Amino acid sequence: MPRIVTLPGDGIGPEICAPAVAILQRFVPDLEVEEHVFGGASIDAHGTALTDDTLAACRGADAVLLAAVGGPKWDTTDPDAPRPEQGLLGLRKALGLYANLRPVRPLPALYDASPLRRERIEGTDLLVVRELTGGIYFGEKTRTADSASDLCLYTVAEVERIARTAFLAARGRRNKVSSVDKANVLETSRQWREVVHRIHAQEFPDVELEDVLVDNAAMQLVARPSDFDVIVTENLFGDILSDEAAMITGSIGMLPSASLGDDAGPGLFEPVHGSAPDIAGTGVANPLAMFLSAAMLLRHGLAMDNEAAALESAVDRALDAGLRTPDLGGSAGTAEATDAVLAHL
Ligand code: IPM
Ligand code: MG
Repeated sequence: MPRIVTLPGDGIGPEICAPAVAILQRFVPDLEVEEHVFGGASIDAHGTALTDDTLAACRGADAVLLAAVGGPKWDTTDPDAPRPEQGLLGLRKALGLYANLRPVRPLPALYDASPLRRERIEGTDLLVVRELTGGIYFGEKTRTADSASDLCLYTVAEVERIARTAFLAARGRRNKVSSVDKANVLETSRQWREVVHRIHAQEFPDVELEDVLVDNAAMQLVARPSDFDVIVTENLFGDILSDEAAMITGSIGMLPSASLGDDAGPGLFEPVHGSAPDIAGTGVANPLAMFLSAAMLLRHGLAMDNEAAALESAVDRALDAGLRTPDLGGSAGTAEATDAVLAHL
């Protein structure tokens, strides 16, 4: 019996998590679901964003479905206060989820919802492969009265494995990798570039590889998004570029993600958007990125490719039929969006 852990988290999290679970249960009637508090909700209940109990449950599951964490209630600059995001970062690290896959594929039905002109985004189908457990996110942090620092550190092995993820993904797509770095300034980027090129030459010479400096990549992403296939980059650059890429689809409310590790351990599936505290509780949150994350869970977590494709196509067809949540310029609420997707399953 497949077992998943759900982490609804904060803000709109619980509102979009529940219908995603209902949809998953349509595909997997005997799905065992264990829910745990996470992020700010866990800070309120237990004083920490990720308890040992929750972590142990996640480790023992086939997959973890996470909605969103954070909110103004827990925002603080006090380095000693618990923060909701620590739960997310701690979970990624503890489960060894170094590869974050963020597909960006605007649907024809949404071309006019993007702030970019239709001619520019037409045909875009890219995958951001973001390194997720290294770099400046996890390096040593210091703080004194008059200075602060964050260390950006990458081992060769960390770059090798994410490079392999990207090249392998490219082989199943349009066979092109854009490696994004800041090699004109950063030593970590010079190492990144060397390692990516070595793995390319030794193991994936059949895949096309280009280097793009991160500032230029930010520009190219809006200037010629359809030229990209796989973009591989380090943790912080990937965080920034994936939010930027999300707008190509019209709304960050459309972007799912999968975070995967090496071994047989569970993957983590979550929408790229946050907890949207401003609209929490009003029933208007767009659940589609959450549903598409559930589809990635079916594909990568439970090896149910056909079911994943069926769910993705139900989302496509619901949008084709006119479904629009407020972030896409419409007025459909979460429940209406859920019904529309269910009707197309
Ligand atoms: C993301 C988020 C997180 C990140 C935050 C919430 C810590 O922005 O998943 O992109 O920076 O990784
Ligand atoms: Mg982010």
